[in-house]
Amino acid sequence: MTTSLRGFRDILPPESELFAQIEAAAREVFGLYGYQEARIPTLEQKELFVKSTGDTTDIVEKEMYAFTDGGGREVAMRPEGTPGVVRAYIQNNLGQTGRNGKFFYIGNMFRAERPQAGRYREFTQIGAEYIGNPAPAADAESISMLVRLLEKAGVGGCSVVINSLGCAECRKAYREVLLGFLRGQAGKLCEPCRGRIERNPLRALDCKTDGPWLAQEAPKRTLCPNCEAHFSATQRLLGAAGVAYEVNTSLVRGLDYYTGTVFEVRSGALGSQDAVCGGGRYDDLVRSMGGPAAPAIGWAVGLDRMAMLLKDRPAPDKAPKTFVIAAAKEAGDRTFALMTALRAAGISSDFSNFELSLKSQMRSSGKSGAAFALIIGEDELKAGTVAIKPLKQQGEQFTVPAADAPAKLKELLNAGNNL
Ligand code: HAM
Repeated sequence: MTTSLRGFRDILPPESELFAQIEAAAREVFGLYGYQEARIPTLEQKELFVKSTGDTTDIVEKEMYAFTDGGGREVAMRPEGTPGVVRAYIQNNLGQTGRNGKFFYIGNMFRAERPQAGRYREFTQIGAEYIGNPAPAADAESISMLVRLLEKAGVGGCSVVINSLGCAECRKAYREVLLGFLRGQAGKLCEPCRGRIERNPLRALDCKTDGPWLAQEAPKRTLCPNCEAHFSATQRLLGAAGVAYEVNTSLVRGLDYYTGTVFEVRSGALGSQDAVCGGGRYDDLVRSMGGPAAPAIGWAVGLDRMAMLLKDRPAPDKAPKTFVIAAAKEAGDRTFALMTALRAAGISSDFSNFELSLKSQMRSSGKSGAAFALIIGEDELKAGTVAIKPLKQQGEQFTVPAADAPAKLKELLNAGNNL
C-alpha cells in the first residue's frame, strides 16, 4: 500500500469539522474588522521567499520545498502566506484601489521541518495582513482581532506576548551591541548560532538552545523615541480594547521582514510546539519587494494547532435527520425520489442500499443517528404513502401521504427541538 508522506496528514471527520468551524468563526471575525479574502497561489518563484522571508531564516535555509520545474524555473511551495500577499498587492497595484488594504487567507503551507506533535510538513494557516496603515491603532486592532478570533473559536488559556524590534535605525544600533556580545560568547553558543551570528545576530535570541540563557544575559534592545512612542501607544490601545498581554523583550520571531511590533500567542497545552500564532509589523517589506512605501502588519494562526486545543470539545451532531428505506424490490425509485424531496425541503436525509433486506436497512438507520426512518414498502407503494418511524423518541410508526412527508417531518423536527 502506498501511504502518505511523513509530516503530511489526512484531516478527516471529526477533525475536518473542527477545521470548518474554526474557519467559519474566523470568516465572521474578519467581516467585523473589514478584512476580505485573498486567494493566492501555492507555488511561487523561489526568489520571492528568499527575498522576503529571508535567506538567513531556517525556513529558507533548510525547510523549503523548492525545486526546478519542467520548464527550468526555480519554484517553491509557499512556506508562509505573507510574501504571496505582498507580491499580489504590488503586482495588482492594490495600493491604488482606494480600498482598506486588509486581506485574510486560509491555506496550506509547506515546511520540511522535523515532524512532531503539532508540527507538520503541510499545515494550514489562517492569516491576516493589513497593508498601508503605519499607526499604532493598526497594531492594536490587528492583535485584538486575533484575540477575538481565538475567543470566537473557543480557544482559551492562551497568552499574548509582544515586543518591539524597532525601526531599521534601532535595529542597526542593537545589532552592533548584540554582535559584540555574541562574539565574546561564541564558545557558549550552539553550532548553528555560531555559524550565523555575523549574518543575523538577532536570530540567536530566537534559538531553542541559546535563547533562554541569552534572554537573561544578552544586552537588552533599546528603542528610539519614535519607536518607543509607537510601542507604548500600541499597548495603551490594547489595554483599552481589553486585551491581556505580556511584554517580552527577547521575542524576535524567526522571519527576516519584521520591524517594530512583533507578537506571539502561546498555549501551554500544546507542549513544545506552543506557538498558536505569530505576527508583527513589516514596514519595509512592500517597498523592498519593489512596491510603494506601504507599512504593514499581520499574523498567522496555525489551524492544526488550534484544532489540537479544541479536540476534546464534543463534535457537532452531523447525523442526518431522516433515513429512507425501500422495503420492497420495486420501491427503490420512489424512495430515492422521497429522499430528493426531503433534501430539497432542507431536511437532511441518507440511505444505505435499497437492494438489502429491511432488517439490514433498519440496522443502518439506527447506526446513522437519524431521528426518523422513512419506509416505503409494498403497501405504501400502492397507497402513495410513506411510513414514518421515530428512532430517537417513543412513539408508534404511522403513515402520511408521500407528498406531505417533508412538511410533516419539519413539524415533527421543530416540535422535538430538531432532535
Ligand atoms: P510563523 O510564526 O512562521 O509566522 O507561523 C505562524 C503559525 O503557523 C505558527 O504560530 C504555528 O501555529 C503555525 N505553524 C508554523 N509552522 C508550522 C508547522 N510546521 N506545523 C504546524 N503549524 C505550523 C508566519 O508564517 C508569518 N507569515 C506570520 C505573519 C503574517 N507575520 C506577518 N504577517
